[in-house]
Amino acid sequence: MIKPTQNTSELSANGVRSNTSGQVAVRERLLLRIVVMLMVISVTMILTLDYGRAERSHDNDATEAQRQKETDIDRQNTDNALLMVEQGRQTFRYDTFGDEGFWGDTLKLHLAIEGTKFGGVGPGVSPSTALAVGLKVDVDALPQPLVQQLKQGKINLDDPATTLALLKLNSVVGVQGQFNQNGSLKSIGINCALCHSTVDNSFAPGIGHRLDGWANRDLNVGAIISLAPDLSAFTNLLGVDEQTVKTVLAAWGPGKFDAELALDGKGFRPDEKTAATLLPPAFGLAGVNLHTWTGWGGVSHWNAFVANLEMHGKGTFFDPRLNDAAKFPVAARAGFGNVRNDPDLISSKLPALQFYQLSIPAPKPPSGSFDAAAADRGRVLFNSQANCIQCHVPPTFTEPGWNMHTAAEIGIDDFQAKRSPDEHYRTSPLRGLWTHQKGGFYHDGRFATLLDVVNHYNTLKQLNLNEQQKRDLVEYLKSL
Ligand code: HEC
Ligand code: HEC
Repeated sequence: MIKPTQNTSELSANGVRSNTSGQVAVRERLLLRIVVMLMVISVTMILTLDYGRAERSHDNDATEAQRQKETDIDRQNTDNALLMVEQGRQTFRYDTFGDEGFWGDTLKLHLAIEGTKFGGVGPGVSPSTALAVGLKVDVDALPQPLVQQLKQGKINLDDPATTLALLKLNSVVGVQGQFNQNGSLKSIGINCALCHSTVDNSFAPGIGHRLDGWANRDLNVGAIISLAPDLSAFTNLLGVDEQTVKTVLAAWGPGKFDAELALDGKGFRPDEKTAATLLPPAFGLAGVNLHTWTGWGGVSHWNAFVANLEMHGKGTFFDPRLNDAAKFPVAARAGFGNVRNDPDLISSKLPALQFYQLSIPAPKPPSGSFDAAAADRGRVLFNSQANCIQCHVPPTFTEPGWNMHTAAEIGIDDFQAKRSPDEHYRTSPLRGLWTHQKGGFYHDGRFATLLDVVNHYNTLKQLNLNEQQKRDLVEYLKSL
């Protein structure tokens, strides 16, 4: 406020003409007022602009500014990144890597889906049944007239014919049909999106826009595989009868899958509960070193593992750790440590697939889904008294480096850890926890709620948190 005054007096001194000193004083005051008003307005505008910008995110500004400074080479790199994200998304959503050979030709799941009416077996799978086992429908793949009919309740959701129509539209998330001339199913394959995508339910429960990277905790993989008319691939691989396979699959329940079953043949834990683990989210993984609950390797290792060994696509996979016949009897027998296929339908897609996954940020919690003041207090606790930050280091919320711990360090049994090469548990990245509260927490969902998790640490690490502090910590976890 000092400067304008000086300026105005300078102005008048430098020849603002006036007839009387009284008039000069009036003019000076007027000028002063205008200048001050302009100052206030401009300062307010600058502040508002700055605030708005900060709100919109500094990252965007930085990206914009950087793009303007890019050289040709920089631009090539950026364009390449965008292309890889696009290719990776296609692969993640729609590529089967030739796994129809397993899900269709071997398990004959397509016959169970279409039912006897279309030349298959059994009653067939209606959309209602499909939704009930957690399959999702991508509303953006449906033509408008169909969306209208669905809205008006004119589509029969109890008819397997509708499922075939939805498959033909490529709208069943993670499931890919191949069709015969007469419209019946020739085969069926699965995609990564089956387990690692869901929909936002914007149209109806189970029907909406795709949410890639979200764990589908409704999906009952065991029930779906159990529908297969021919389970001999499992009985042969595991060396057990069909009833045993069915018992193992039935024990998984929604939101779970056992990626290690086909390696060690263990269907149940010593406590007789299922050996399956929860489907983890596949977002927020950039900067995370080891992946899966037990840290099998990097994203590219695991993607190759899953595409070859779990989805049964046709590619190349090398991991000599699987030749350990004591730990992985099934894998060693089957030669999973060194898989080769010609043609290789997987390897060329892995770089972009990894890139896409790393590009998916953990989704932010909706406003109002947690108590912000409590979450603020919880953050302080997380970083101090509760010392969660020792392992869950922001922004990834896992350790930069070798992010692995023994079962004893986190106070649980080592059954699942022992089924992996490193025999440790990987520090779970915590962002987006709010998206996968169904099914519980930790690799097997042993803690039903976040409060249960906090209680566990409170006892294990003797944190002396009172009830209020525990609740604050939970609100913070919900805010990540
Ligand atoms: C049938 C369900 C299913 C399908 C299909 C599937 N996954 Fe997974 N995915 C899982 C399960 C279960 C785990 C946890 C495995 C474990 O820890 O033993 C997992 C773990 C992962 C992880 C580690 C995430 C983390 O926590 O760090 C990534 C990455 C991943 N999958 C990517 C993929 C990709 C890419 C595909 C397709 C090539 C795919 N998955 C297909 C069930 C599935
Ligand atoms: C010694 C390292 C360590 C410390 C300290 C630690 N965690 Fe963890 N945390 C882990 C590991 C390892 C896992 C994975 C457990 C599993 O998969 O069974 C995990 C899992 C979790 C999960 C479950 C994530 C999911 O996806 O299911 C939550 C929530 C969590 N921790 C919160 C906390 C909180 C809150 C604290 C502080 C009170 C804390 N952790 C302290 C290592 C740690």
